[in-house]
Amino acid sequence: MKVICTERSQVLGARLAQILQIPIVDTSFSRFPDGEHYLRTGDLDGETVVVGSVTDSDALVQLMLLIDTCEQSHTRLVLPYMAYARQDKQFKKGEPLSARVVAKALSRGVSEIITVNVHDPDVLKNFSVPAQNLSLASDIGSFIKTLKLRQPLILAPDDGALSFAGQVASAGGWDFDHLKKTRLSGAEVRIAPKTVRADSRPVVIVDDIISTGGTIATAAGMLYQQGATDVYAACVHGVLANGAYGRLMATGIRDVICSDTIERACSRISAAKRIAGAIRRC
Ligand code: R5P
Repeated sequence: MKVICTERSQVLGARLAQILQIPIVDTSFSRFPDGEHYLRTGDLDGETVVVGSVTDSDALVQLMLLIDTCEQSHTRLVLPYMAYARQDKQFKKGEPLSARVVAKALSRGVSEIITVNVHDPDVLKNFSVPAQNLSLASDIGSFIKTLKLRQPLILAPDDGALSFAGQVASAGGWDFDHLKKTRLSGAEVRIAPKTVRADSRPVVIVDDIISTGGTIATAAGMLYQQGATDVYAACVHGVLANGAYGRLMATGIRDVICSDTIERACSRISAAKRIAGAIRRC
């Protein structure tokens, strides 16, 4: 078995190869003068684990090209982050089901898919090959333990993330709760007034994704007004679009923590061990 990874998933791919004690295939990436992607891999044979987060359209094309080079081998796709997964419904007439489009495109040429905290596990049924979704909730919980916070409240920004918050909280036997968020636009959210047990204690807001940071910033403002001593943000996928990291730090968030499903300087939790465990069980 060998690991091969896209440009955006080099660190996670290498960590996975190290844990599984298998080689990583050397691959070169470049662009044609018109901007089209080009890549060339080293030797592939037997089983291949392709690791590639779809963070944007370029990463999607590169991942599709990489899968195509594995034609001769049994290929397992690790899709740590799947962009477009949030457009999983037709919210307005005339919209595409983007999650289905991406799932179908990535199913071609692979025999099995592993996702990590995909936005909604229902998305998995759009893949035409067997797919499983892993959760990093307990890994986030273990990381929060290392912060040695005194009785933190683990808070989900909406009820959709409540069970995730519960799983994070169970790592330390901490309290958990949720707010009620309504999305107004891509970058704006409204959080309904709600008093939570935030007074005189640290709060860790947990979510699957931090994208614009609007959700976390709005929630943090409310929590500081309710007397929280420190507000932290922890997520699986640090999309951190349009300067979100700086904006969050400027609003008084003590720390922004994410995993390496998207490789960032603030990726302090690795999905590699959990993915390796799933591959070993297959
Ligand atoms: C949405 O349902 C997700 O779980 C996240 O809450 C959302 O993607 C966060 O987006 P943003 O950081 O742009 O508020």
